[in-house]
Amino acid sequence: MKPYGISWDEYTKLGESERAKYLNDKGKIYDVIFSQQYNKAFLDEIYVLTNKIRLISKTREGQRFLKNLLGTKKALLYFIQPSSRTFLSFFSACATLGIACTDIRSTEISSESKGESPEDTIRTFSSYFDAIIMRHPEEGYAEKASFVLNNYSRRPIPIINAGSGKDQHPTQALLDIFTLQKSLGKIGGVDGKTIMFVGDLKRGRTVRSLSYLLSNFKDIKFIFCAPEGYQMGQDIIEHLKKNQYEVVITSDMKKYLSDADAIYMTRLQDEYDKVKGESNAYNTKDFSLGLHNISLIKPSAFIMHPLPRRSEISTDIDNDPRALYWRQMRNGMWTRAALLAYIFGVDEEIIRY
Ligand code: CP
Repeated sequence: MKPYGISWDEYTKLGESERAKYLNDKGKIYDVIFSQQYNKAFLDEIYVLTNKIRLISKTREGQRFLKNLLGTKKALLYFIQPSSRTFLSFFSACATLGIACTDIRSTEISSESKGESPEDTIRTFSSYFDAIIMRHPEEGYAEKASFVLNNYSRRPIPIINAGSGKDQHPTQALLDIFTLQKSLGKIGGVDGKTIMFVGDLKRGRTVRSLSYLLSNFKDIKFIFCAPEGYQMGQDIIEHLKKNQYEVVITSDMKKYLSDADAIYMTRLQDEYDKVKGESNAYNTKDFSLGLHNISLIKPSAFIMHPLPRRSEISTDIDNDPRALYWRQMRNGMWTRAALLAYIFGVDEEIIRY
């Protein structure tokens, strides 16, 4: 990657498509920061690779082949916001490809606790690793880290955003679309489908990244169903409308459940409450799925959730064949392994195997 030749202030004034040109190296994704960086051709490529890695992993010989691919690489999992799935699936994906991993899960155990700046922290980390996979509570932190490394470090390394505050979770969107494509494949794929998002859409980064990613598909109808005050951000709604998608904004889950081909449930994101008890009035019951309303959804519809869940999906419906959330979670490891293989340039070798 070459230095951008512009300041951070100038860079942040650019739109996502302009910033994506800097984040990609000669058209190839280098740093993974937001899901507007992906296009349909990339999705098609990464999902072929995902399926191939999954298949190869079924034999011992295949596992050995994969493990030998990136044995000289090291990755840092810098996760200073809680995570189970993303952290462990990246850890496992690295192990599959032979990448050595270590982690930092709190600023209290790094020199940030001594007052080291975020910029110096990232430059320090980059001296010892070949990639940084990071989850951070601050929106924009991963992008700033990528800017710092690409412009000021002699040794820029890829930054992968594994969740940036309320803003984006681009690798979750990747596994969500993979899951949707596999499941909706029998009924014509993702194009033309109605996708309903339910819950705290205002502060959910997964629904934001997925909405952007779905705008690579044709004729999607978006139904955003949230309590008042928790509705999807205006930036996403404007992006979708500008691109001619039909968008429904509602608080009436019952009214729209039977329209949906996929229902993407999310939990209340009260870790972002500014004042304790701020979201006490949030009524989870009216934005939940369970025995009380499962009969309303189409026999062909799918239920998704990025997890963790609270009570917005009852365990009573976990064995319903339409419940995809556990499969969705398992797909995360394979799509993340494919993403790492692509970033480190061993994708063609895997496809040839
Ligand atoms: N879906 C997801 O990001 O889960 P974790 O917070 O457990 O990583």
